[in-house]
Amino acid sequence: MPNIHPKTTPIYQTSVFTFDDLNALELYFEEPGQNYMYTRYGNPNTDELAEEINKLEGGVGGVVTSSGMSAILAAVLAVCKAGDHVLCAEEIYGGSAALLSQELTRIGIEVSYVPSADTYTLEQYTKPNTRLMLAETMSNPLLQVLDIARLALETKKLSIKLVIDNTFATPVLTKPLELGADMVMHSVTKYLSGHSDVTAGVVVCQQQEDLQRVQAVMRTYGLNLSPFEGWLAARGLKTLRLRMKQHCSNALAVAQFLEQHPKVEQVWYPGLEGHPQHGLAKEQGHGMFGGMLSFRIADDTESVNRFMQGLASIPFAPSLAGVSTSISYPLGTSHRSLSPEQQQKLGITTGVIRLSVGIEEPEELIEELEQALAKV
Ligand SMILES: Cc1ncc(COP(=O)(O)O)c(C=O)c1O
Repeated sequence: MPNIHPKTTPIYQTSVFTFDDLNALELYFEEPGQNYMYTRYGNPNTDELAEEINKLEGGVGGVVTSSGMSAILAAVLAVCKAGDHVLCAEEIYGGSAALLSQELTRIGIEVSYVPSADTYTLEQYTKPNTRLMLAETMSNPLLQVLDIARLALETKKLSIKLVIDNTFATPVLTKPLELGADMVMHSVTKYLSGHSDVTAGVVVCQQQEDLQRVQAVMRTYGLNLSPFEGWLAARGLKTLRLRMKQHCSNALAVAQFLEQHPKVEQVWYPGLEGHPQHGLAKEQGHGMFGGMLSFRIADDTESVNRFMQGLASIPFAPSLAGVSTSISYPLGTSHRSLSPEQQQKLGITTGVIRLSVGIEEPEELIEELEQALAKV
């Protein structure tokens, strides 16, 4: 092999690594993390991604997975077994709720949902077998902001693990482990990779014992990420800080524009002074409020369709956090499976549109939104 020194990590697109002899095999077991054996157990590309995210989140180590869903699965299975009980914030990504209610209950893990009014008073929901609480830094789609330090005090008091889904905020705004969470996870598919071309997840732990359990679950259940996706995500991650600055300043400009527009009835963005947790969001996000916002126009399907058709370049795409702006429609996608009563209770009505604000020039975005709103 020639003596080459690439500036960036090459893609180790291999499922297995070779050993010269039995001594090399022994070295693999004696010095964990120094050599590789099989990509499902570890690969330089996925390890690089895990290390970089761990540095950002400030944990003892991270484990990357094939998706955000498998990251949640790994975090829960690291702690819970059949017969255990999990608490989950009521306002949570629909896929997370489906994993808990429809799948994990089938293997004997019980779940209770905690309404946002009771987030910091969990005693009434806990049982002797409660092991873990799952909640999001910012909720989807109405951007309620969680006081992580306050919740961590409560979960510590009750001796249950706190797992925070930090997908919407990213560690650029908020580092849940510093605020007392035990594990933080992400859909890396979103801001961390940032370009809408990767599906991946990560769990970062505060304690070694949790890290070892997450690693064991990832390896044994085969939840690993592929080397190429790991490489792409690690490449995207290099510009996370820059991207987040632009996402946040654009979103604030767009929220302020929408707030004063006569066709817009309500805007949900933590950066607006009228947002119920604006003060908390400012402190917890170090003055940044994220790139996601939602707003409501007239509550009728025809108005929503006219708005969508009036957008010249912003697509309707039921995901988020890419460099280019997109809209989504919670009632018809992420919250479709809820009953009309639940949708109403959460405030997700016909006219609610979610905007994932990209990193374009803000004037261009506002002009396009202005033109689409004129069609409503
Ligand atoms: C907040 C949040 N958590 C988890 C997930 C699941 O991630 P993935 O789609 O990468 O499996 C999503 C997906 O949209 C999400 O928005």
